[in-house]
Amino acid sequence: MRLVLVGPPGAGKGTQADFLAAHLSVPKISTGDIFRANVSQGTPLGLEAKRYMDSGGLVPDEVTINMVRERLAETDAADGFLLDGFPRTVPQAVALDKMLADNGTSLDLVLELVVDNDEVIRRLAGRRTCHTCKRIWHIEFDPPTYNGSCDNCGGELYQRDDDKPETVAERLRVYARDTSPLVDHYAAQGKLVGIDATGPVEDVTERAIDALRSYSA
Ligand code: AP5
Repeated sequence: MRLVLVGPPGAGKGTQADFLAAHLSVPKISTGDIFRANVSQGTPLGLEAKRYMDSGGLVPDEVTINMVRERLAETDAADGFLLDGFPRTVPQAVALDKMLADNGTSLDLVLELVVDNDEVIRRLAGRRTCHTCKRIWHIEFDPPTYNGSCDNCGGELYQRDDDKPETVAERLRVYARDTSPLVDHYAAQGKLVGIDATGPVEDVTERAIDALRSYSA
């Protein structure tokens, strides 16, 4: 299956992407994760991306599209993938449609995680991520047993630089302006399914899997 997850910052895309990619046996491809890995390795791509990420803006389309084109050309993505955080602008969506059409394929489904801004702000304020295994935690909604340490691997937890309140406000503005038009783009293609992304993580996963099931039925 070729699936895209769309939704505002903090909607739970990364959290759900891990479960859904495992459920579908496809690779999870997160542009945010790829940029962050490049930032921590200090690559030229990371240095460029960091300038935009730190202010809550988007990395330029050309850079992002080329990066995704290279990633989708890897063999593990040949039969399916789950994209988390891409596309994020209409030009990125158009480029993805073309990339896939050039290979004789197309997206199957776009799952929109629907959640309001107040909930997103609460989620981002409490998010912690493991340095080692990248598991996502929340200090209130999904707390690790010991503060600051990952139950999964014992790694150290950190708070993302772009989760500061002023950066979150900008990310929400950018989402409304640049990314929310994707909802219409994919609805017009008949590929959009929206699910309520509030409530416990496992309930959201269940709704997502139901949506995938009704697509395949
Ligand atoms: P990216 O990493 O993609 O960030 P984002 O889209 O803003 O999304 P987040 O990772 O913040 O949130 P999420 O929806 O994954 O939520 P999560 O599961 O962590 O991008 C970062 C930056 O990179 C961008 O700002 C941009 O600069 C750049 N970038 C990336 N892609 C780009 C592109 N295509 N083009 C240009 N630039 C790009 O959950 C959040 C918290 O909530 C966690 O603590 C979690 O435990 C908790 N939680 C999750 N689900 C629930 C639930 N049901 N109930 C309670 N808590 C929950």
